[in-house]
Amino acid sequence: MNTATRDYATALSHIEGVTSSENDLTANLANTAAILKTLPGYFWVGFYLVKGDELVLGPFQGPVACTRIARGNGVCGTVWAEGKSRLVPDVHTFPGHIACNAASLSEVVVPVFDKSGTVAMVLDVDSDRPADFNSDDLHALEKVARILTGKIS
Ligand code: SME
Repeated sequence: MNTATRDYATALSHIEGVTSSENDLTANLANTAAILKTLPGYFWVGFYLVKGDELVLGPFQGPVACTRIARGNGVCGTVWAEGKSRLVPDVHTFPGHIACNAASLSEVVVPVFDKSGTVAMVLDVDSDRPADFNSDDLHALEKVARILTGKIS
């Protein structure tokens, strides 16, 4: 996938637009997932929210997914534990990768922090093509995460 075909500028401005006048977090996460799902190659996109000692599935677009992930487990649990984004070109080489769907071959996961700097959720994007994401995708998704930080009360 040539990321030149992923128009993040438009997606970001759309996300800014729909979240600017809405303060309900679930509504904002749901619309954000819907906007991102329109990008080429986005097989699954959604949020896992920190609830106690687990991540729990939140708003998403794509096939049915795992509902709970422990801290430190898989890509999502690792991003939560480390507070750092991860680009995974080949999910099969990531130790402990959680295969919610066998079709997912590459993924990118970014943390979404609350205003105090604690990870409140992670944003997970999966592709059914290998090595489908690069640092442009990662940086654009980190911008999405920053917009959402502003919407977490
Ligand atoms: N693959 C993720 C789990 C979430 S699903 O892909 C939707 C992981 O290893 O954390």
